Order: sequence, then structure tokens, then C-alpha cells
Amino acid sequence: MDLGLTDKVALVTGGSRGLGWAMAASLAAEGARVAICARNQDRLAQAAEKISAAGGEVFPVGADVTDVADRNRLLTAVKERFGPVDVLVNNVGGNRRGMICETTDEDWHSIIDLNLMSHVQLARDVIPSMRERRRGVILFVASIFGREFGGPGMSIYHTTKSALIGLAKALALELAPDGIRVNSIAPGSIRFPGGSWDRRCEEEPEKMAEFIAANIPMGRFGHAHEIGDVVAFLVSDRAAWITGACLNVDGGQSRSLI
Ligand SMILES: NC(=O)c1ccc[n+]([C@@H]2O[C@H](COP(=O)([O-])OP(=O)(O)OC[C@H]3O[C@@H](n4cnc5c(N)ncnc54)[C@H](OP(=O)(O)O)[C@@H]3O)[C@@H](O)[C@H]2O)c1
Repeated sequence: MDLGLTDKVALVTGGSRGLGWAMAASLAAEGARVAICARNQDRLAQAAEKISAAGGEVFPVGADVTDVADRNRLLTAVKERFGPVDVLVNNVGGNRRGMICETTDEDWHSIIDLNLMSHVQLARDVIPSMRERRRGVILFVASIFGREFGGPGMSIYHTTKSALIGLAKALALELAPDGIRVNSIAPGSIRFPGGSWDRRCEEEPEKMAEFIAANIPMGRFGHAHEIGDVVAFLVSDRAAWITGACLNVDGGQSRSLI
């Protein structure tokens, strides 16, 4: 199936490793012109090199998406290099674990800025040009833990990820008349070299084997490319009738009936 992504301009935030890199690689493999950003410029350059070496067109821009000047510089650079953004993949995200009374305002503000506000702000920045051109796709990377409880100490992650799912739905309905689609995805536990699950597997292999047995019906962690390929489809015209959806990509890990 041709996804029709050739020459589409995609921006993937947090594209230097993990899920974001895999999304950028899948989009580039489908012929999109892909901009990626992250704060660590060396890692970003190496990530871009791997995509170029596979024949993809990629543009790395060092930027912190929580910083307004960096966001503006990022969008200007992408516009100058590739033209206006057709596909925005808001992927950056993190977590600060802690039981609610042990969390600080600083913990909350920092993760709300990263997981939610940077996504709101980048979406707001690209929407006017998408509206003018009557086309565009925005995707938010949430988590199955935006849809259901993942355990004590996860309140900041739960709150911000469920907010993203709500945001995607609200934007989808608001922007449908302009020809702009908005969705979110809810990955389950994905292991990739250097990622948080990889670290835990190295540190506590038996505990992680028990975790998989108890939580993931497919019997393994997900791979980053399994998220990247789903994202490439969801942002493509082949998914033209999907908007306002939150898609689980989790090997059956989530338990919610709806
Ligand atoms: N891994 C999983 O199992 C899993 C499961 C469900 C959902 N998710 C979600 O999927 C997304 C990606 O997860 P991941 O595990 O691939 O994350 P990760 O390994 O922590 O990678 C995050 C990426 O974002 C960049 N980044 C972080 N803060 C940034 C900032 N302020 N400005 C610009 N770039 C920034 C990082 O590079 P720098 O550090 O150099 O900036 C890196 O490229 C997150 O939203 C996460 O919540 C992950």
C-alpha cells in the first residue's frame, strides 16, 4: 500500500531516540521530508545520520520544545528548509514518579510543560497554516496510562497523558471543518536500547520477566518500529477517515473495555 506520504513535511518532536526516532524513520522511509528535534545535538545528529544512511530526507534541529524561543526557531528553520508543516507528531514526554504528597509544584509544572503545554503550543503554531491550506494532521503521543490506571506514584503521568487524549479529541472536532485530522496513540510498554524499560530489564531481569507475564498478553515488550509504522499509517491519507481517535498500540496490555 502506498501511504501517499512522499514529499509531505513532517515534524517529529523528540526524534533522537526511542519511539520518536522510529516514527521519523518510518515516515522518512515512506518518502516524507522529516524534521526532528531534541535537546542533545550530538545524539540528534547521529539519529539523523541513521535515517539519511537509509535513504531518508531528514533535518535535525536542536531545540527544547518547552522554550518558546526554541520552538519559534525550530518552526522557522523547518519552514525555510522544507516549507510549512503538513504533519506534526507531538512525541516528547517524560515522567516524575512519586506518591502525590511527595510531589512538588515544580514536579507538576515541569511535566505539564513537557507533556502537555509544549504539545498545545506547537499545535497552535502550525494550525493557522494548515487551516489556510485546508490540510494537515496532528498526532499526540499519549500512553495506555492516559486511559487507565498504571499503579501508585503515576499521578503526574496519568494526568498529563489523559489530558493529551482529551486535547486530541477536542482539537479533532474543532478542526474537522478545516480538513485537519487530529488523533492520539496510546503505546504500551516499548523496549529499545537505552530506554527506560531496557534499563529496568538490565537491572532487574527476573522482575521484568514477571511484569511481562502478568501484563503483556503477547509475551514481550513492544518494539519502537511497531509504533513508528502505526504512526506513519495514521498520519497518512490512507487514514483519512480517522480523526478524534486514540489508538492503543500495546500487544493487548491495556485492560479497558472501551
Ligand atoms: N517507551 C515507552 O514504553 C512508552 C510507552 C508509552 C508512551 N510513551 C511515550 O512516548 C513518547 C516517547 O517515549 P520514549 O520512551 O521514546 O522517550 P525517551 O527515550 O525519553 O526519548 C524522548 C525524546 O524526546 C527528546 N526530548 C526530551 N525532552 C525534550 C525537550 N524538552 N525538548 C525537545 N526534545 C526533548 C529526547 O532527547 P533529548 O533528551 O536530547 O532532548 C528524546 O529524543 C513519550 O511521550 C512517552 O511518554 C513511551
